Amino acid sequence: MAKVKKINHIAIAVHDIDEAAAFWRDALGLTLDHVEDVPSQKSKVAFFPIGDCEVELVEPTATDTGVAKFLADKGAGMHHLCLEVDDIDGMLTALSKKGIRLINEKPVVLPGRRMAFIHPKSANGVLVELYQVD
Ligand code: CO
Repeated sequence: MAKVKKINHIAIAVHDIDEAAAFWRDALGLTLDHVEDVPSQKSKVAFFPIGDCEVELVEPTATDTGVAKFLADKGAGMHHLCLEVDDIDGMLTALSKKGIRLINEKPVVLPGRRMAFIHPKSANGVLVELYQVD
């Protein structure tokens, strides 16, 4: 059976990664590991490792994305929680069978990992992302 291994990252929606880094890097002293363009999600993401976990800042690069809509509606803030699993296909199948609403029925392939989102309606209002790291 597919298992949840750990929290991989907590994502925060921001208007501007450079501006947001003033808090996470300059004030808290975290190290900015890298910034990555994710064209398939129309966003730019920055990773700040904290122990075995990361804070991920997400800046939309288009106005027609979920994150852009979130920012327009609520402003910057916590956007999703990412759980790392050992078998994302198995987990998605198991969740579907249990009636959990999925945003991605099949994993989206990104460099170094595969991911899928669970609908917040099935997760107490929290957008949950699943990762299987290669
Ligand atoms: Co994420």
